[in-house]
Amino acid sequence: MKKITITIDGLSSTGKSTLAKELASKLQYVYVDTGAMYRAVTLFAMQNNCIDSEKFNSKLLVKNLPKIHIHFEFNERLGYAEIFLNNKNVERVIRSLDVSQLVSQVSAVEEVRTKLVQQQREMRKDNGIVMDGRDIGTVVFPDAEIKFFMTASADKRATRRYKELLDRGENVTYERVLKNVESRDYIDSTREISPLKKAKNSIVIDNSDMGLKEQFERIYSLVSSRI
Ligand code: DC
Repeated sequence: MKKITITIDGLSSTGKSTLAKELASKLQYVYVDTGAMYRAVTLFAMQNNCIDSEKFNSKLLVKNLPKIHIHFEFNERLGYAEIFLNNKNVERVIRSLDVSQLVSQVSAVEEVRTKLVQQQREMRKDNGIVMDGRDIGTVVFPDAEIKFFMTASADKRATRRYKELLDRGENVTYERVLKNVESRDYIDSTREISPLKKAKNSIVIDNSDMGLKEQFERIYSLVSSRI
């Protein structure tokens, strides 16, 4: 069967990663969560006094970029690859609301994007890849065979993310999560470099009122028709 490149972009908390993971596992493709890479750089920036809720010293972060090494390791038990920052597994800690609140500022920095986009392109060794993010169909792999753009109402997305954070034991309010979802949408879509936008030839999936199973079946059948 022909191996292809599948890109999944879209607004925050639209379930891109869940869908991408399931698709990759069914097709036996490589799965790459690029949001995790921007989150890992943000964690590094937080740990090295480059950013907090009051200030962002982007020059200091750019100076330190050569010290940031990100890699993924496949976890057999979980069935997907986990992210490592300088050889430390940060898969869990990068998902906190603290990181979510700073990640959009970090990902608007040109040098950060250049570094990560280069690494993302290198991950497509011999096709057979599902990559999710914000600029995958537009910038990273504009030549992808099939591109999806995921969207859902802000309320639905915040509700899902709120439940997820509560399940992980984080002390959050729905209002804070909604504010974060909306502000990330705004910064991600209006930044100068590689803003979040729908690639011309992408298939839009609005999953506000769609169950996970229904969504997967629809997307899998679209993908199957291209393979
Ligand atoms: O997919 P996510 O919510 O984990 O992504 C976190 C942030 O990273 C998102 O708000 C914007 C940024 N991001 C990006 O700028 N480009 C990507 N390809 C992926 C994520």
